[in-house]
Amino acid sequence: MTSVRNHHLEPHLFVVLGATSDLMRRKLLPALYRLRIEGAIHTPLIILGVSRKAGFTDADFQDLAREALVAADPAHSETGPWCDECLYFQSLGAGSPEDFQALAARIQTLEQKHSLPGNRVFYLALPPAKFMATIAGLGQAGLNQGPGWTRLVVEKPFGNDLASAQALNAQTHDVFDESQVYRIDHYLGKETVQNLLVFRFANAIFEPLWHRNLVKSVQITVAESLGAAGRAGYYDQTGALRDMVQNHLTQLLTLTAMEVPVGFDAESIRAEKAKVLRAIAPVKPEHVTYGQYVRGAIDGQAVPGYQEEPGVAPDSHTETFVALKLFVENWRWEGVPFYLVTGKRLPRRFTQIAVTFRCPPVWVFEPHYAGTCSPNVLVFTVQPDEGFDLKFEVKAPGEPLEFKTQRLRYRYAEEFAPLPEAYETLLLDIMAGDQTLFVRADEVEWAWRIYAPALDPPPAAVLPYPAGAWGPARAESCMEWPDPALLYR
Ligand code: BG6
Repeated sequence: MTSVRNHHLEPHLFVVLGATSDLMRRKLLPALYRLRIEGAIHTPLIILGVSRKAGFTDADFQDLAREALVAADPAHSETGPWCDECLYFQSLGAGSPEDFQALAARIQTLEQKHSLPGNRVFYLALPPAKFMATIAGLGQAGLNQGPGWTRLVVEKPFGNDLASAQALNAQTHDVFDESQVYRIDHYLGKETVQNLLVFRFANAIFEPLWHRNLVKSVQITVAESLGAAGRAGYYDQTGALRDMVQNHLTQLLTLTAMEVPVGFDAESIRAEKAKVLRAIAPVKPEHVTYGQYVRGAIDGQAVPGYQEEPGVAPDSHTETFVALKLFVENWRWEGVPFYLVTGKRLPRRFTQIAVTFRCPPVWVFEPHYAGTCSPNVLVFTVQPDEGFDLKFEVKAPGEPLEFKTQRLRYRYAEEFAPLPEAYETLLLDIMAGDQTLFVRADEVEWAWRIYAPALDPPPAAVLPYPAGAWGPARAESCMEWPDPALLYR
């Protein structure tokens, strides 16, 4: 199993608060199970599911797990004795201090039963509104410190704006030390995202190119063809800027723009990422285009508009598309625009980072060649069809002088087995105590600071685009929107 570094795991109890959640069923249980059957976890994998559900028993939880595993992969129909022997459930009732005390007692019982040394992971697979009370409850029951190590895992969104993120961080730090906290941004668990570090820092030829002298612009695109159906309750309160840009796209930006870390460890890498975030000037509202999809078609299939999705207010002006421009104001990047683009119901699903280089300072081909410079572009395709491409010019054979754009192409699938799920990597890192791929408290706050001027646009600023288009027309005019057909193949 891959991860940023090689790990040693110690026996521990894995406690999931929000054990009946969609996240638990769709992501966590399948990832934990795969890690176990693939042999990545050598210690016993004992899981205590916790939720407010009254009357739910160990056996109910085991059934839920079996169903979730088969739903994730029909090949998981034979889970053997694992579900019965290693999965437990504890109700947290109304979440009173007594309920947390009962949780603490159950944890001790299980640790004795399985001869565990008191190392504990507390994974909050909960709606954000429950974070603060749950963290406080764990602290009051003394569960922030155990006989061994204790780790707290928090899912995004980390706050809703700068003030709420600061409050959440402050309250978390009242109970847990930052060295215990693992804030998940699942993009950091993707192999191709981690590969950005290896590509940049294990291949010396790129370092001199990675500079304002040679880079004209950087565009980070996360395009999704799915809409917001099924998650309207969350999405309509959130929108694309909070849901995608403040976290996933910003994390991709930090890995693209960061300086070489002094070491390949969590503190060195996270310190460089935080420096990039500090150097980004808050976004100017006039550099942001917002969109919302209306009825259209994807792959020839008619799809409803956002306001027609179940659970969305018919007059909602939540943005489902954002394109914006940022500047990293440091010596390396001053003046180079970083474009961040994301949207739902775009024609295709892909995530790409395109680094566009400058044209030659002098164009020596006139009058023999009528064309103009077509810049070199290095494109990292994070998903799907993971790999990278370098676009460059060649002379077409014969006369008259003609240039043709060609690509050097690398694809993971041609060399490696299917890449692991991001959650497998992240879960393994949590168990091993490696914080490299987790977002530090200050990173979250710096990121919210960047977007503060652009949160909550006025309704008139949210422009319609038909599902199946590349966003509203204005995004194309204010962006160097690369031709996706050229970048992604
Ligand atoms: C989630 C967002 O964090 O990331 C979703 O809440 C989005 O809206 C998803 O669809 C995209 O993740 P991935 O891994 O499918 O690109």
